[in-house]
Amino acid sequence: MSEPSDEGPVPIEVPNDATLMDKVVNLCKRRGFVFPSAEIYGGFRSTYDYGPVGVLMLRNVKQAWWRSMVQLRDDVVGIDAAILSPPAVWEASGHLQNFTDPLVDCKVCHERFREDQLEDPRTCPNCGAVDSFTEARRFNLMFKTHAGPVEDDAAVAYLRPETAQGMFVNFANVLQTSRKKPPFGIAQQGRSFRNEITPGNFVFRTREFEQMELEYFVPPAEAARWYEYWCQERFRWYLELGIPADKLRLRAHEPDELSHYSSGTSDVEFLYPWGWGELEGIANRGDYDLTQHARHSGERLDYFDQATGERYVPHVIEPAAGATRTMMAFLLAGYDEERVRGEVRTVLRLHPRIAPYQVAVLPLSKNDKLVPLAREVLASLQPQFMCDYDETQAIGRRYRRQDELGTPLAVTVDFDSLEDRSVTVRDRDSMAQDRVPIAELVDVLAERLA
Ligand code: GAP
Repeated sequence: MSEPSDEGPVPIEVPNDATLMDKVVNLCKRRGFVFPSAEIYGGFRSTYDYGPVGVLMLRNVKQAWWRSMVQLRDDVVGIDAAILSPPAVWEASGHLQNFTDPLVDCKVCHERFREDQLEDPRTCPNCGAVDSFTEARRFNLMFKTHAGPVEDDAAVAYLRPETAQGMFVNFANVLQTSRKKPPFGIAQQGRSFRNEITPGNFVFRTREFEQMELEYFVPPAEAARWYEYWCQERFRWYLELGIPADKLRLRAHEPDELSHYSSGTSDVEFLYPWGWGELEGIANRGDYDLTQHARHSGERLDYFDQATGERYVPHVIEPAAGATRTMMAFLLAGYDEERVRGEVRTVLRLHPRIAPYQVAVLPLSKNDKLVPLAREVLASLQPQFMCDYDETQAIGRRYRRQDELGTPLAVTVDFDSLEDRSVTVRDRDSMAQDRVPIAELVDVLAERLA
């Protein structure tokens, strides 16, 4: 069962380029993190399904965010708003008018591009033709549908392209029911939909994805301070969950990059295999959203401060992250290979709070005496930890499988366990093993996973 320590593991350098990307995409498919959607029908245009371990990991990413943004604070409450919404919301928010990308077609090869993403605006990156592009046309990214059986203009509805508007349109409801006052925030997680012209890079840019957004409402004079606070706070969150500092940076947007609502935005950027790119945006949205919705709805969306007698429209600081994109960043940052006794060991060095399983329970073999005890141990751990149970194959191969799933701790039940009521606990990163009495197991594991 033990892995000899005479020859320590030798790190293998995996370059942060297409090699890493291929390895992670491959691992995701092989181990059940992420599958191409509708694969048996040939897949469906950059949509993905989250498999048995992917769904656990994605939930953990969202739970870690919720814990930090809602559970550990007394100034933030959550909501879960509808995905389908009427045009009025998107008219007021500016999305019907402004949420567009400039689309060009190459007249030679008929490929379609976002004009603002072309390296050379005159040359087609697909066929090399020069000056072959059509005039740019503005393409709205929102998915349009119809609510009800009649497909006329009165029935038009949109799938939300961001979760944010659900928080703004519920501002008055939340203010009244939660008894919060600025500075306070509304948090939400959920699916958003954008008809992206150029989806790609696995789950980095997809047409259906998950967001985790906070709208933090502040007195106008405090906006700059809170903007700075949330930039630092969100940067810290990624570090705390194990993204290495040299793969993260905070970058302030240039004035010409700012969205239609923003008076200041910084991105938390991650060093992806193709270079630096956005992980999360933190925007100072001013009073744009509440003012727009108040104007369009005719409702009052402001705050009356009884202490000062002042009435004002709160300004909004918005940290907006993607859950699916963040999950991918954790996978890329955690992927590691090393050589152990002449074999390559692949390890996902995920933070215990992010890893799909926290503990694997493994009977040394499928023996009639070991399995009942292993199942007893499993049952004692399941209320506390997300556990995997595996009794197939040789123990070494099962350890390697757990390493690839990122499971931080494995508990092995062997023949000595029948006598001494102790088990072997094996650490994913160091591969160190030690014996722990079953009676103390929950506490010992909880301490190591904290
Ligand atoms: N409410 C502001 C807003 O939605 P955004 O920068 O457009 O801002 C926030 O989106 C985050 O959502 C991004 O930083 C990214 O993580 C994620 N995101 C946006 N579009 C995405 C897409 N097509 N696929 C995956 N994630 C996406």
